[in-house]
Amino acid sequence: MKIIALNWKLNPETEKEALSLLGFSDRKGVLVFPPSIFLAEIARKAKRAEVGAQNIFWEEGGAFTGEISPSMVKDAGVQWVLIGHSERRRYFDETDEMINKKILAALHADLRVILCVGEPLEVRKKGVSSAKKFVAYQLENDLRGIKNFKLKIKNLVVAYEPIWAIGTGKADKPAESAEMAKFIKETLSSKPYPPNPKVLYGGSVNAKNIAAFLRPGEIDGVLIGGASLKREELKRIFGILKI
Ligand code: PGA
Repeated sequence: MKIIALNWKLNPETEKEALSLLGFSDRKGVLVFPPSIFLAEIARKAKRAEVGAQNIFWEEGGAFTGEISPSMVKDAGVQWVLIGHSERRRYFDETDEMINKKILAALHADLRVILCVGEPLEVRKKGVSSAKKFVAYQLENDLRGIKNFKLKIKNLVVAYEPIWAIGTGKADKPAESAEMAKFIKETLSSKPYPPNPKVLYGGSVNAKNIAAFLRPGEIDGVLIGGASLKREELKRIFGILKI
């Protein structure tokens, strides 16, 4: 079954609206990623959708004002966490080293991780092979030390999100993101990585293009930002997916 992950980012404004959005998206195969303040309530109310956090910290406790630990998130009834989203890398200066710590802490707390990777426009302009090198570097550094975990395939998903495609309305070509998904699987095909992880595509996915990304093949699902907040768009997406 394909994974349909909905990243609400810093939306909506109220818990009431968040619950209404959940009511609309609460379907099998859907993962919702609300802002952390709504997590516990959304996790309590979700019947079919699974729930994920958009971020965590790597420490389990201590003097880290404003942060949320993996165990707190787990205790709120959450199964998933997004790590390494390009908006966190860009606006909050998250480095590969920090992302690596977060991944290890999340796996330690038995959370399922969606690791986001993807290249900026200036790299992609140099060609797909430059983009592959960039992504391989991120994977190597973000997943350092992962061999210390007895990882099940279901615990680690990779989302390929080319930065230039996020929120721009300019999605990648499905054939090129499928090629990147294949490359990510090949890169992770040898130990210490879990064999054959699922790879999602993210970046301006909408009702018009989703079918092309979800054709049988290398892409195992999508990570949707902007369109996950628009009911009409979502309605069409769920209609296409028949869920
Ligand atoms: P978008 O966002 O669908 O609005 O491009 C995707 C994401 O940031 O995960």
